[in-house]
Amino acid sequence: MQRIIEIESDSFEEPWKEDDFLYFRNRTNSMIDIADYHKGVVGYICYELHEDGISLVNIAINRNLRRRSIGSQMIQFLIRFLKSKKLKYIDLKIRETNLKAQLFFSKCGFRGVRVLRNYFEDTGEDAFLMEYLRFSSNRISFGQDVPW
Ligand SMILES: CC(C)(COP(=O)(O)OP(=O)(O)OC[C@H]1O[C@@H](n2cnc3c(N)ncnc32)[C@H](O)[C@@H]1OP(=O)(O)O)[C@@H](O)C(=O)NCCC(=O)NCCS
Repeated sequence: MQRIIEIESDSFEEPWKEDDFLYFRNRTNSMIDIADYHKGVVGYICYELHEDGISLVNIAINRNLRRRSIGSQMIQFLIRFLKSKKLKYIDLKIRETNLKAQLFFSKCGFRGVRVLRNYFEDTGEDAFLMEYLRFSSNRISFGQDVPW
């Protein structure tokens, strides 16, 4: 838990405290998964299971190990879990100012679906509701091979 708290404090201006993680972990249908590297925690993901889908509520990677696909691998793990449980969606609410994470989730196949005005009580910021749908008709793939 100590390593998680350190990564959290280093990642957010309003970090979860140890009690927040313990409260979250002890709730029914709430999960915390970690990414291990050489027996050390380098990242974690917190999510809630619902009847039809998953709400991702927190993800952070050790600052020194970002941009090495660890976050993407955690999301891929969650998408595989979604498929194995035959659930329909993963959603999340991201701060309007957290552009880096918005880009990250877009790269992982999420799309913005709604703006929730003044969602975050601490700063009054809006939230962007983003979602990943298991069966999406408008997920576009880009490749470098031009077919002519
Ligand atoms: C968002 C976060 C989890 C991404 O983890 P990561 O392991 O660094 O992400 P990845 O290396 O898998 O990145 C995958 C892609 O996302 C995009 N991306 C990730 N971080 C980015 C950044 N800082 N700026 C722009 N694009 C970014 C890129 O397209 C990247 O691919 P590339 O490196 O080939 O260009 C990490 O930056 C983090 O812990 N941020 C602080 C906590 C946070 O804001 N969490 C989200 C809100 S709960």
